[in-house]
Amino acid sequence: MKTYRDIAGDAGSDVQGQVETQQRRLRARMAKIGLKVAVLSGKGGVGKSVIVANLAAALATRGMRVGVLDADLNGPSQAKMLGVRGQRLQFRADGVKPARGPLGIRVLSMDLFLPSDETPVLWSGPAEGEGYIWRGAMEVATLREFLADTDWGELDLLLLDLPPGTDRIPNLLPLLPELHGVIIVTLPSEVSQVIVAKSVTVAKETLKAPVLGMIENMAAHLCCRCGAEEPLFPGQDSARMAERLAIPFLGRVPFDPVLTRSADEGTPVLLLHPSTPAAKALSQIAATIAEALHLPPTPIEREESR
Ligand SMILES: Nc1ncnc2c1ncn2[C@@H]1O[C@H](COP(=O)(O)OP(=O)(O)O)[C@@H](O)[C@H]1O
Ligand SMILES: [Mg+2]
Repeated sequence: MKTYRDIAGDAGSDVQGQVETQQRRLRARMAKIGLKVAVLSGKGGVGKSVIVANLAAALATRGMRVGVLDADLNGPSQAKMLGVRGQRLQFRADGVKPARGPLGIRVLSMDLFLPSDETPVLWSGPAEGEGYIWRGAMEVATLREFLADTDWGELDLLLLDLPPGTDRIPNLLPLLPELHGVIIVTLPSEVSQVIVAKSVTVAKETLKAPVLGMIENMAAHLCCRCGAEEPLFPGQDSARMAERLAIPFLGRVPFDPVLTRSADEGTPVLLLHPSTPAAKALSQIAATIAEALHLPPTPIEREESR
């Protein structure tokens, strides 16, 4: 079987031309979006997606027009966490219209293109051994298409929920040369921190975007009887890790089953149960991020700062 290496030229497909056209469309789309912020970790299962959904809700509550791009193509979560699964995407000549979640949050996720819960995303490689390169190329091409062909409309902020894997971070640069910030999520375990530290290095060196800071998720759990905080992991304090890496520490989110349930039900905990400790922590973190992004303070924040 021939692989793409054996084919002379592009066999008349003008792949280069197609990519350039798409890249131009992507730049025009991105120019309509005020701020682009990526949430990443390097590590899976640390709570990136649930944090993105809640930050989107917190910032939409401030009156911002927020979009969420679920860039985790293999483990898409945003359609579920923002309650838009089952919405039919509208395909128009000027692009696909994203789904609409709570507070009008616009959501695009691979999940919305899959026919059933059990359907996985599989990239089939042209030849064994080249599968890895192929997968990477397919992922980038799909993300480019998502960014270029989605009609987000006017957006103040696009949040990107990135997949785990430090090696994927540099692929973003050609797609999002003007990223306004990167937020890193870690657990307080050493296993997580060692991996996350690597992604901080890659984010700093390759993305050329300011690291807005690090969030420690599942920092503690609250005793269901007395409400006292108990550490969930024995690892070192992530605030010290942030200090060592010379990035801001944005705060800690406790483990809270109410948060898990809210995400499963498709509404961010911050909207469903705003007075829970996890929701309060997420609101505070969103306010710190808003400040780092130089967003105007809300009337309440203005009052409090007097
Ligand atoms: N602080 C938390 N309290 C309770 N559940 C959480 C918390 N953070 C994340 N979860 C849950 O853990 C699971 C993994 O989180 P997720 O956001 O999907 O991680 P990631 O995107 O990093 O892979 C989800 O079911 C999510 O709802
Ligand atoms: Mg995720």
